[in-house]
Amino acid sequence: MSAIRFDSLVKQYGKQAAVNNLSATIQAGRITGFLGPNGAGKSTSLRCLVGLAKPTSGSAKILDRDYRELENPLTQVGTVLDSRGFHPSLSGRKNLQIVAASAGISDSRVDEVLELVELTQAAKKRMKNYSLGMKQRLSLAGAILGNPQILILDEPANGLDPAGIAWLRKFLRAMADQGKTILVSSHQLAEMQNTVDDVIIINRGQLIASGSIKDVIGEGTLEDAFLRLTEGAN
Ligand SMILES: Nc1ncnc2c1ncn2[C@@H]1O[C@H](COP(=O)(O)OP(=O)(O)OP(=O)(O)O)[C@@H](O)[C@H]1O
Ligand SMILES: [Mg+2]
Repeated sequence: MSAIRFDSLVKQYGKQAAVNNLSATIQAGRITGFLGPNGAGKSTSLRCLVGLAKPTSGSAKILDRDYRELENPLTQVGTVLDSRGFHPSLSGRKNLQIVAASAGISDSRVDEVLELVELTQAAKKRMKNYSLGMKQRLSLAGAILGNPQILILDEPANGLDPAGIAWLRKFLRAMADQGKTILVSSHQLAEMQNTVDDVIIINRGQLIASGSIKDVIGEGTLEDAFLRLTEGAN
């Protein structure tokens, strides 16, 4: 059984293929960077994976199933996608308590995850008064509430300052060390180079490389590899 698998995934919007025949398997217990420039099709692929977009053809499966077929998905897959909705006028803790209640998760677990993302001090603050970095941490807290084995994160580093990025890196590594499978997208190649074990690189909806970061980048940087791999394609 694979943790996450794209199989000839196509997502067409009108005449444009946002994702064009993407096949890739994500290895369990590792951090996989899902990389590519703006508009490459990363978010669309991840949205297909969690049932927010319907594939035109092919499939995107979690644990060999469609997301909507998973029982109590919060305990199997944690997601951070831009569409995630929290109530701005409620506190961070209250927001998490609402999500927790919907999945039969205890309030004590809410306090535990707030501690894990280092938001305990700000737990009672209204979410609308959170900084961007605090909102990202709250989203991550929501993703790990059900202690899932799989995390799917769309640009979780967006808006984080260097300290926040370093924190996120440590956080993801700690999760992977617990055996969790993490798929994390980013258009910031340099930043991901030190974070991930494996990479899937896409451009214009198509796969251009996948494998361990060592195998894909060789001697240079991830940016070098990306430019080399897309040379002539643009
Ligand atoms: N709902 C939609 N309707 C029409 N076109 C869409 C829709 N969602 C995405 N697209 C198009 O699909 C392409 C891929 O977009 P997507 O958001 O998946 O890229 P991305 O890799 O996540 O980019 P970014 O790094 O900017 O987040 C883009 O050309 C975008 O305009
Ligand atoms: Mg995106």
